[in-house]
Amino acid sequence: MNTSETQQRERIRTEIHASADAACRGLATEVAALIRERAAQGRMVVLGLATGSTPVRLYRELIRLHREEGLSFKNVVTFNLDEYHGLTREHPESYWRFMHEQLFDHIDMPAGNINVPDGTVPRAEVFARCFAYEEKIRAAGGLDLQILGIGRTGHIGFNEPGSGRDSRTRLVTLDALTRRDAARDFLGEANVPRHAITMGVGTILDAHQIVLLAWGEAKARVVAQAVEGDPVDSLPASFLQGHRDVRFMVDAAASSELTRVKHPWLVGPAEWTPALARRAVTWLSGEVKRPVLKLLDEHYGEHGMADLLTEQGPAYNLNIRIFNEVQHTITGWPGGKPNADDTYRPERASPHPKRVVVFSPEPSDEMLGMGGTLSRLVEQGHIVTVVYLTSGNLAVPDEEAVIAADLVLDFANGSADAAPAKKVRDALAAKQGDPRASDTPDTRRLKGLLRRGEARAALRLAGVPAAAERFLDLPFYENGRYRQFRAGPADITAVAALLDELKPHQIFATGEGQDPSGIGAVCFEVLRAALASHAATAWRADCRVWLYRTPDKSWAAHEIDMAVPLSPAQLARKVQVVYQHKSQRSQTPASGSGLHEAWQQAEAAARDLADTYDALGLAEYEAIEAFCRWNG
Ligand code: GLP
Repeated sequence: MNTSETQQRERIRTEIHASADAACRGLATEVAALIRERAAQGRMVVLGLATGSTPVRLYRELIRLHREEGLSFKNVVTFNLDEYHGLTREHPESYWRFMHEQLFDHIDMPAGNINVPDGTVPRAEVFARCFAYEEKIRAAGGLDLQILGIGRTGHIGFNEPGSGRDSRTRLVTLDALTRRDAARDFLGEANVPRHAITMGVGTILDAHQIVLLAWGEAKARVVAQAVEGDPVDSLPASFLQGHRDVRFMVDAAASSELTRVKHPWLVGPAEWTPALARRAVTWLSGEVKRPVLKLLDEHYGEHGMADLLTEQGPAYNLNIRIFNEVQHTITGWPGGKPNADDTYRPERASPHPKRVVVFSPEPSDEMLGMGGTLSRLVEQGHIVTVVYLTSGNLAVPDEEAVIAADLVLDFANGSADAAPAKKVRDALAAKQGDPRASDTPDTRRLKGLLRRGEARAALRLAGVPAAAERFLDLPFYENGRYRQFRAGPADITAVAALLDELKPHQIFATGEGQDPSGIGAVCFEVLRAALASHAATAWRADCRVWLYRTPDKSWAAHEIDMAVPLSPAQLARKVQVVYQHKSQRSQTPASGSGLHEAWQQAEAAARDLADTYDALGLAEYEAIEAFCRWNG
């Protein structure tokens, strides 16, 4: 089944694609061929469809094929996997509505061919209706092709951990992690339904062909477990292993935990590039819990790395080489140390000062990922500009906007100046009881301004001068919603114009490798395109791009090209800086253990990186912020 020895641990055929778009183009072509073939025979095609951000690109490509290449869906019948229980079709987050907005409204499929489980069925009738759903699939001839995404719990459809291999269409209770992942869509976890109706694992396995899609690093772990682990109830996607025609299509980020990608030396002879050697040695240090300089030949031998020793050993030499490489990533001078020998420094010494641009997808990202480094860059005399790409207004709870609107109203004290605030106040009042009703443009503006204020408070505390801030409010965000963002030429032009004006020597950015429809990744794609438009310029040739990460996914040791240590005082300041983003704090006091708040997560991530370096045998710091050089 698998095509190379490096895939020997993979129990499901897994294709790694250059990008989600490339994968979806390929799959859409296959789907189109199936539809046309059946149409030529006068037969129907039965598709099982999924929701979530993952399949959106596939649907866009199918729409394009319909519009531009005449693909007709008249002979297509669809069955959707699942629906939230308790949501009407009209609810903005219902899967029925999602499917219409993302696909059905744009193609010529007859409305009668669409099947989505009904979320409004009274509890007492659920069983019978689920049974009828299954019957209908059977009567249609079964699912020819089932498209799947995967949740971070390893769920397919809404088959949460605990769902058996034989489970059928039924009502399920949603997992806490699943509800947290949906919290943004519903503007708060409390609004996320607790139950859903989903096809069962058994229903899915009855499909003739199954294709599971996964993009972004957040899916990497669960993809690897489903593909390489034993089939278990605790990870329902692993049951796909038993199917005769199943395939995973993933992008590079989602493949990153597969053995062939992460530890290629464990599945065959590896080509020991310097990067792979560093990855292997830092991994080995973690495995045997010894600092790099204390690794012995037998440790290498016992972990499938004997050939690395033969090529580049003995251990003593290799250890010193890797130790030095990691040592050289550490610098207190993120913008380069003026007048110093920079042969082994991550950033060049001159020019000094540098023009530095820090891109933040949403206000606070820059502080979460690199608040300490940002302060340092300013202190070390660089000309820093912080660019807020989106306003972040979608993430502001109504309660915060009410406080702000009331303040303006009271302050204006009945004068004409009160009119805009009154409008917002009325709009928010009208929304009451329906927290997911969309905000008016005025309300979004107010919410965006609120985040601007927080961003400024954070900048002040970080020591960044007021003149350094730029708020772009990119249109893709202002006109979009979660899971459906799509950048356009206006976004790219805005960033390209700013780059042309600032002509930076150094750029800090984030979002690469994330879920491609998330805000971070969309912002990164905009930056990538804007940079490409300047490819031939002198400043671009002299500009280095450094990637930072927000605390949800830190760098692994081997990925780090620059590590900026923070002292205890610098870490304390970073925490305070993040704390300024008041609207982003939990709306309810956290109960139980766990790092609920952003500042806690930022602190923990920076401390963890310091621990990682300490465990490798490098100096012991309080905290570290880390960066990877981007050569795209
Ligand atoms: C929801 C859906 C799943 C989907 C999952 C992942 O739970 N019920 O069908 O696969 O989300 O969502 P996303 O594609 O947005 O990552």
